Amino acid sequence: MRHFLTLTDLSSAEFKQLLQRAIELKRMQKAGEIYEPLKNRVLAMVFEKSSTRTRVSFETGMVQFGGHALFLSPRDTQLGRGEPIEDSARVLSSMADCIMVRTFEHSKIELFAQYSSVPVINGLTDDVHPCQLLADMQAYIESRGDIAGKTVTWVGDGNNMCHSYMHAAKLLDFKLNITCPENYTPAQSFIDETSSHIEIIHDPVAACTGSDLIVTDVWASMGQEEEQLSREKDFAPYQVNAGLMQVANPDALFMHCLPAHRGEEVTADVIDGEHSVVWDEAENRLHAQKALLEFLLVE
Ligand code: CP
Ligand code: NVA
Repeated sequence: MRHFLTLTDLSSAEFKQLLQRAIELKRMQKAGEIYEPLKNRVLAMVFEKSSTRTRVSFETGMVQFGGHALFLSPRDTQLGRGEPIEDSARVLSSMADCIMVRTFEHSKIELFAQYSSVPVINGLTDDVHPCQLLADMQAYIESRGDIAGKTVTWVGDGNNMCHSYMHAAKLLDFKLNITCPENYTPAQSFIDETSSHIEIIHDPVAACTGSDLIVTDVWASMGQEEEQLSREKDFAPYQVNAGLMQVANPDALFMHCLPAHRGEEVTADVIDGEHSVVWDEAENRLHAQKALLEFLLVE
């Protein structure tokens, strides 16, 4: 039994294989081919934070695979009233075939996985967002081919998305420039883990020069809402705008996991412009996670 708590739960070869499978599953879905490897199987989805893409992609993917998905919010479950994580994990995994968890502290999903008898998928924690990287890397490959040897620049907060990009850089062998304000660097443990493939360059223009892919994310993540104003000030020099895109390679792509704030971390002309592949990126959540569910649940 395998869990998917961080991208590094996959080997480099498994990650690449999964991306190819996602591309194939997308083709099959668009061709109208019925493929139901998870008939009568159930995915329980525990959401302690809001979601549009993660919920809809997992739910739709399970239905397309012939199975079913359950949306569980802390407002309506005993987990939200203090039932221990260990007990919830034991009970949910005795009924469902797979469990997706979106929560705050990464240690919570680790504890959940420890007590679960079925695979646990990380739908985002404060530390990482590995499912999003499956979709992003699929989108890059579909548009530009192999990402190995390319240069990717992460602009903004050294947050959960940035940490998962650091893992992807190591697994898929690309160079990741990270440009962020001094006080918003990624966590040291992620820097130590991926130091061979990353470079922190505080000057955004230098960091984006010659890049093949520019990626950003919100300045205040879920749970940091009260820091919104101070972050707007701190991150102002790190807005992805036409000027920054101009120093990247002419065929550079732009990605954002969404939801986006136009006029803050990215200007409208960039996210709605010719370099942007954010809609493919979002759609790929469906295809890439179907590949993940198949990998974890189908022998
Ligand atoms: N990108 C992403 O995970 O979106 P949601 O928060 O809408 O799930
Ligand atoms: N960094 C963002 C990603 C949202 C998908 C957050 O954690 O809110």
